[in-house]
Amino acid sequence: MPKTLAKKHTEGKPRSKKHGLTEAQIAVHWKEEAYIRPPARFIAQANLNDNYALERFSEKNFPECFREYAELLHWDQYWHTTLDTNHPPFWKWFVGGRLNVAYNCVDRHLAKYKNKAALIFVPEPEEENHIVITYQELYRRVNEVAAVLQGFAGLQKGDRVTIHMPMIPELPITMLACARLGIIHSVVFGGFSGEACGLRAADSGSRVLIYVDGYHRNGRWVDHKVSADIAVETAKKEGQVIDKVLVWKRYHHKYTSDAPMIMERDFFIDDILKDYRNAVVPPVSMEAEDPLFLMYTSGTTGKPKGCQHRTGGYLAYVTGTAKYYQDIHPEDVYWCMADIGWITGHSYIVYGPLALAATCVIYEGVPQFPDAGRPWRIAERLDVNIFHTSPTAIRMLRKAGAEEPKKHNYRFKHMTTVGEPIEPEVWRWYHEVVGKSEAVIVDTWWQTETGGFLCTTKPALDPMKPGSAGPACLGIYPIIWDEEGKEVASADHAAGNICIRNPWPGIMQTIWGDPHRFVEQYYKKYNKNAQSKDWRDWPYYAADAAVLPPDGYYRILGRVDDVINVAGHRLGTKELESACLTIQEIAEAAVVPVVDEVKGRAPEIYISLKPGVLPKKQIIEKVTSTIETMIGKIARPKRIHIVPDMPKTRSGKIMRRVLAAISNHMDTGDITTLANPDIVEQVRQIVQGREIMPLNEGPEDIKLFGDER
Ligand code: WT7
Repeated sequence: MPKTLAKKHTEGKPRSKKHGLTEAQIAVHWKEEAYIRPPARFIAQANLNDNYALERFSEKNFPECFREYAELLHWDQYWHTTLDTNHPPFWKWFVGGRLNVAYNCVDRHLAKYKNKAALIFVPEPEEENHIVITYQELYRRVNEVAAVLQGFAGLQKGDRVTIHMPMIPELPITMLACARLGIIHSVVFGGFSGEACGLRAADSGSRVLIYVDGYHRNGRWVDHKVSADIAVETAKKEGQVIDKVLVWKRYHHKYTSDAPMIMERDFFIDDILKDYRNAVVPPVSMEAEDPLFLMYTSGTTGKPKGCQHRTGGYLAYVTGTAKYYQDIHPEDVYWCMADIGWITGHSYIVYGPLALAATCVIYEGVPQFPDAGRPWRIAERLDVNIFHTSPTAIRMLRKAGAEEPKKHNYRFKHMTTVGEPIEPEVWRWYHEVVGKSEAVIVDTWWQTETGGFLCTTKPALDPMKPGSAGPACLGIYPIIWDEEGKEVASADHAAGNICIRNPWPGIMQTIWGDPHRFVEQYYKKYNKNAQSKDWRDWPYYAADAAVLPPDGYYRILGRVDDVINVAGHRLGTKELESACLTIQEIAEAAVVPVVDEVKGRAPEIYISLKPGVLPKKQIIEKVTSTIETMIGKIARPKRIHIVPDMPKTRSGKIMRRVLAAISNHMDTGDITTLANPDIVEQVRQIVQGREIMPLNEGPEDIKLFGDER
């Protein structure tokens, strides 16, 4: 596991061969996969099918090469400086330029495409018809909602709004309405708890929340409005007053939530909209550097951080990369299964594709509902030809119905995998069965912070290699360094920290309200001169481990920090640990990633109890319920172990590396330097000593040290 690799560096104690291979070594010894070439039919129609792009985006043409992306947009005013490096690492892109994102994603398409589908909403219940929203209709609805935000909620340019909504068309409509007015949206993934939403709303200083009453998920109705009340309370405790909660109704004619509407605070958007029928709100001409949105993500501290993305550079980057790497043309039907509440959805469901006048499918539910054939029925019905999902979804669909895709008459020209490393055999199933051996696959590596893709093959130009993201994207110059800043070359056959040497237009501007942390987290590690105004001195540290074989195809191994990538979603171990520590009985908590067949990684929790507290099942149940309340169901631990003590260094630091090794049945390496080496065997007995059962199978499976009681 990459974590082991990171610790190996930081503790300065390389593990010897006799202790077995480290994860990095295993990865480097992986069999090199054979290339698969893109089919001629794809190449013939591809947006990027000439090799001159490499020359155009070569380092000697940086940063002006990125004009090519910006010129895909409509600018109210052209920029005078492509890249301003006066305040490193706070880069400014397309300075002097003015544009509006909603205008670029909606208005400008009306002349040619007003009657073309912009969004096709597929409700989870299969008996409900899908809903088509044309560009004309999108234009109308975005304007009307913008009018509500401005006229009714009194919001204006620069204000923040927190949107806690699931996958329904009102979500992108609300986002675009914000963008039309220059209101900074902060979309919180629908699966996060009300408390998690409230904390983010408080951090961003939002006084308006936008919700929906409920939605369908995995065959059940989720009452979502109840979270709004918790969010408002949580924000209040943090000192942020929410004065309005605007509530969409999933079914416009009825309210479906048990939570009452609070007078003077909660308002149905559908009702207010009646006063704004056919309203037209002129798009606000924004400066390229004005913030467009915040996206909170987990990092190395207990508190998620708000990645602040800019207007011009971000839109240019996602539009250019959606065009070249997703190969989106206006005539394509594009379906990205990610949730709009994550960065993938922002960049590659909403902003990039709509700027290209694409038709985007928005599916409300889970892929395997009511069965594993669902995605392929949707694809056939809507004639989807570009498909985008995560390795976790692919593994799940493969497990649940390996032969399902064959039964359906759809044809993908292009498919994406994103969010976590994909095993070569899973990649091959995706290619042969889902892609019917004719779709091109791109394995795109990037992050919430980076706005858009960093490494992937160029679909028509580069051969694919299962299990490797591929070469750097155009205009991106990565490098792998070891902990000391020495380059790890491909000939070294070793892993290191992947960094990007140069700025690019999609990179976040800063962390909302915490510029210091922005510098510390991403730039301090490899910065050579804090006074320098030369971008070459400010490489971006991604916190991912990677290896580079001689062919230049980066293989991303995973996070080297305290972040666990669960099913392609980021969880901060510190966030889970702080949640545990709110439980009175718990003295210490440590969270480690454990390999999971479907989700890639899952969190496993170790807790030790305060003196005199007896280990009880109730404590374990409290851990699960506390995590669900404070973060959300997605953070549910795979297992929870109560241990008598944590393995610690002499300075008292919990050795998570040792716990992770035990959880994953790996060698714990050298433990002689621990303050309490004897505990390791005891913990191993607790964790591995008995039959392992998943936590959610009932109370019997809870594992305690000593006697179960
Ligand atoms: C982390 C970022 C980027 C959108 C979804 C996740 C991992 C992402 C890949 C890939 C291997 C990948 C990295 C990265 N990751 N894509 N193609 N191969 N690993 O965004 O939640 O910010 O997570 O996801 O570890 O750091 P995110």
